Amino acid sequence: MEQMRGGGEPVLEIAGLGKTYGRRGGGVRAVQDVSLTVRAGEVYGFLGANGAGKSTTIRMLLGLITPSAGTIRMFGRDLRHGQPVRRVGSLVDGGAFYPFLSGRRNLDVLARTQGLDGTGIDALLAQVGLERDGHRKVKGYSTGMRQRLGVAAALLNDPDLVILDEPANGLDAAGIQEMRALIRRLTAEHGKSVFLSSHLLNEVQQVCDRVAIIDRGVLIREASVADLLQTEASLRIVATPLEAARAALAERWPCEIDGTALVVRAEQAQAPEILRRLVEARIDVFSLAPSQRTLEEAFLAITQSETADA
Ligand SMILES: Nc1ncnc2c1ncn2[C@@H]1O[C@H](COP(=O)(O)OP(=O)(O)OP(=O)(O)O)[C@@H](O)[C@H]1O
Ligand SMILES: [Mg+2]
Repeated sequence: MEQMRGGGEPVLEIAGLGKTYGRRGGGVRAVQDVSLTVRAGEVYGFLGANGAGKSTTIRMLLGLITPSAGTIRMFGRDLRHGQPVRRVGSLVDGGAFYPFLSGRRNLDVLARTQGLDGTGIDALLAQVGLERDGHRKVKGYSTGMRQRLGVAAALLNDPDLVILDEPANGLDAAGIQEMRALIRRLTAEHGKSVFLSSHLLNEVQQVCDRVAIIDRGVLIREASVADLLQTEASLRIVATPLEAARAALAERWPCEIDGTALVVRAEQAQAPEILRRLVEARIDVFSLAPSQRTLEEAFLAITQSETADA
């Protein structure tokens, strides 16, 4: 099932995209030579630290600022020849709302400015978890509620491509989980493609199919989350005495002691045999689990090797 997702036609193609703010030598090169492709039906993560150039890139995608270099194609059409706005929905800077109007009324006004009749707004409010607060004035909303209203606003025109700048911003742990589920539903149930930015590795790991990592304006890696996490299979064993455990396994599997655990390079299928050997050697085993590299480790390895190469 996982393999089927994200295999669609390109919905967003960025090539050689660059942006320099300001002129005359003193300009800030916020984005340089960024190229990537988002395919139909996938959740694509744009990952980078503060100031990496995520919002600048997204602003260019939405036509809010003009690129200094490169091309953007959406649904096969060059953005310079008129943006196919109707198929794109977006959230930037948490959305801009009238504070003295209710969340529902704000969506109503936005729908009208887009030439929509406003049907389906209640369903949208429910979709983002604001069914009970839709009637309240936005000035009384928490950051998380505003953020959800922003996502509802991005979905008003039932877009095929949803572009979200830091959708998890300002959300608490429960809010992040709801947002994750919502984004998942957008692709799984509604067949939309999502391009989202984040500085949260964990967030991207959990919700995205593919990611691009941007560092100081430069794209340093584009890969599936599975590939980024890919590492040689290993098992992490907590046992005592640890040195004896290593000795019992070392002739058959490469092992190394890492803190209070023994890391054994072996497939999970070999776990029963490994356990048997440890028991035969009269070693107490407290736990044995496959170890997986986190996206954080992958991210640090990638960004650090880039820095070392520079
Ligand atoms: N309007 C502007 N004028 C001048 N420089 C800008 C402007 N907007 C952004 N920058 C600079 O461009 C770089 C990239 O900023 P950008 O906002 O795109 O980063 P970001 O990845 O979205 O960061 P964050 O995670 O903090 O939102 C930064 O060095 C920033 O100072
Ligand atoms: Mg930003």
